[in-house]
Amino acid sequence: MKAKDKVLNELLNNTNKYLSGEEIASTIGVSRNAIWKHVNSLKEDGYVIEAITNKGYKLIDYPDNLNAELIKADLRGACEHLEVEVRDVVTSTNTLLKENSSSYAGKDFLLVANEQTNGRGRLGRTFHSPSGTGVYFSLILHPKLSASDSQYLTTAIATAVARAIESVCNIPASIKWVNDIFVNEKKVCGILTEAVIDFEAGGLEYAIVGTGINITAPKEGYPEEIKDIAGALYEYNQAPKGIRNKLVAEIINNFYEYYIDLGNKPFFNEYKKRSFLMGHRVKVISNTTNPDDYFYANVIDIDEDFRLIVETDDWHEVALSTGEVSIRKV
Ligand code: BTN
Repeated sequence: MKAKDKVLNELLNNTNKYLSGEEIASTIGVSRNAIWKHVNSLKEDGYVIEAITNKGYKLIDYPDNLNAELIKADLRGACEHLEVEVRDVVTSTNTLLKENSSSYAGKDFLLVANEQTNGRGRLGRTFHSPSGTGVYFSLILHPKLSASDSQYLTTAIATAVARAIESVCNIPASIKWVNDIFVNEKKVCGILTEAVIDFEAGGLEYAIVGTGINITAPKEGYPEEIKDIAGALYEYNQAPKGIRNKLVAEIINNFYEYYIDLGNKPFFNEYKKRSFLMGHRVKVISNTTNPDDYFYANVIDIDEDFRLIVETDDWHEVALSTGEVSIRKV
């Protein structure tokens, strides 16, 4: 951690009192003059820091930027010490972690971005990731999981996102099987999980769980091809300050609560409860490259392997697995 981030971290952990320059200097091991410089630099970044002679510094307010220290300050439990990096613009957080996977060997790492120029979606699609209106993040993990159990990473993060949207933003969120998050019948979040298999060891070498959330609608609206499906948590310019940092932290907290016990799928009931296709009539497109290959059915359940159980019009029960089909509510 850079000295400036350490100063911010100290101020964040002590918002109820004044910290003298000397105290901060001795905690982080730099001179008082260096503290003064870092405080001024933080002020230039938009942090409001009160400085009172003989008392010290106190953080009063902070900017609405994504910030690794603010995210880390809200992490707890199994992810309390997770390493977090925030970047303004990236090609794709999933791609960057994949390209640098060897430098994270055995170590979990969270990369968060304000904008992606080449955001990637499922089935080779692109993911619209404009600046300032969303948050895009990927977590690289090294789970001891079989390739088939790695699908639980996706359902775990989907549940974690829906639960966090509700607790942090107070907005009811549901899950469209298997991993899209919907608010008011619009998709507000997409998830892309990618795993690399270590054939010799017979498990995963690593997995990257990528999540993109539309926080506010972009001023110029959504591109034509997604404008009927895409939605956001808030109207343009209406998001509460600091919500992106808080939301990312809470999603990661929820996710790790599930991840440390992934094999037992502790999120299964919550996932099922939030699944909005349950009980609905759907169009099942069996071949995602051929939209004419479809049938209609009624959703009757989700089984313990997160397969969607549907009943066809000729009374056959079919278990649909993720990746094989595309589902539209009718
Ligand atoms: C989908 O809905 O098809 C999945 C979209 C996944 C988007 C996220 S944003 C962060 C991470 N980086 C990417 O390039 N994609 C994922």
